[in-house]
Amino acid sequence: MKEKSNLRFAIIGCGRIAERHAEHIEHLAQLVAVCDKKPERAKMFGDKHNCPYFNSVDEMLAAVKNIDIVSVCSPNGLHAEHSIKALNAGFSVLCEKPMATSSRDCERMMQTAEKANKRLFVIKQNRFNPPLAKLKEIVDEGRLGKILSVQLNCFWNRNDEYYSNSDWKGKKLLDGGTLFTQYSHFVDLLYWIVGDVKNVHAFTGNFMHKHNVEFEDTGAVILEFYSGAIGTINYTVNSYKKNMEGSITIFGEKGTIKVGGQYLNVLEYQNIEGYEIKDLPESGKANDYGFYQGSMSNHDKIYENVIDVFSNNAAVTTSALDGLKVTQIIEKIYEAANK
Ligand SMILES: NC(=O)c1ccc[n+]([C@@H]2O[C@H](COP(=O)([O-])OP(=O)(O)OC[C@H]3O[C@@H](n4cnc5c(N)ncnc54)[C@H](O)[C@@H]3O)[C@@H](O)[C@H]2O)c1
Repeated sequence: MKEKSNLRFAIIGCGRIAERHAEHIEHLAQLVAVCDKKPERAKMFGDKHNCPYFNSVDEMLAAVKNIDIVSVCSPNGLHAEHSIKALNAGFSVLCEKPMATSSRDCERMMQTAEKANKRLFVIKQNRFNPPLAKLKEIVDEGRLGKILSVQLNCFWNRNDEYYSNSDWKGKKLLDGGTLFTQYSHFVDLLYWIVGDVKNVHAFTGNFMHKHNVEFEDTGAVILEFYSGAIGTINYTVNSYKKNMEGSITIFGEKGTIKVGGQYLNVLEYQNIEGYEIKDLPESGKANDYGFYQGSMSNHDKIYENVIDVFSNNAAVTTSALDGLKVTQIIEKIYEAANK
């Protein structure tokens, strides 16, 4: 087992994903404070993880001075406010995806980090799925030649229980949209592997969730990348009764690869000139929230990287710039859909 780091973390928002964070922090570093606006949740979480708990962000940031990094696990629409408060208090920030629900907010977060001379990390844990890490590696090595086109499929199920169990999911201001909450780390893969997006055409609709979701539950998107590649995103949370597929297919001059499975965790197809992907390490498990499943649970890799950055000057795997770019692409898609 690796030696525990002395880095001290605090968590804002003691909900579902915060449990993953706490688990890895306790394993790899120190958890020194948590806060949640719901007093009973803060108390339960603090008691469970044996650390001081607070009912407001301001209270925690004022009271606890020995924090190194604040993990922001609050609803999407509060990421900017909470990250900026933590940075202004003199702490670095590890922000859950999506970085924010507007590029203006991402920029404000980055400016604050620069002014405070603190680090700002954003979580995009799908990058650590073994088949995706390999895909990125061989694209960067040029083994597929020029990337011609890409297809991203996001076919999950989010039912009424999912939205009625939350006071922010499905709300325009705090959630932002299906691409922000369910699929921002899928969009990140397009940016990471194929590059930035130049032009977008999009159609969206709310077919099954008009009564509890203030935005689309389905979208069909056509993209043109600055590289000249073209692509599509077909996404929905209406896959009947259960998650069906999360997949990316890349067509290059010298090879075709599909990474699929429910969570972009399985190498489903490969045909590459003079090369074969072999012996991939096994993928981890998806985050399991009982009545629904989320993305692959690679948060341990994120924490290892954050600790490595602080302790050994390692390179950041997912930077604030990546977070900003993904938010910009999602904004472009929604702008195109609303034309
Ligand atoms: N990377 C991933 O795979 C992944 C998975 C799930 C969720 N997330 C992201 O994590 C974030 C949280 O999602 P969740 O599913 O854990 O939601 P959740 O509703 O379970 O937890 C959010 C918590 O934040 C608290 N909160 C709300 N406003 C607050 C405030 N002003 N101050 C302090 N606490 C406040 C809520 O009371 C709640 O306990 C979201 O941004 C979501 O997109 C990421």
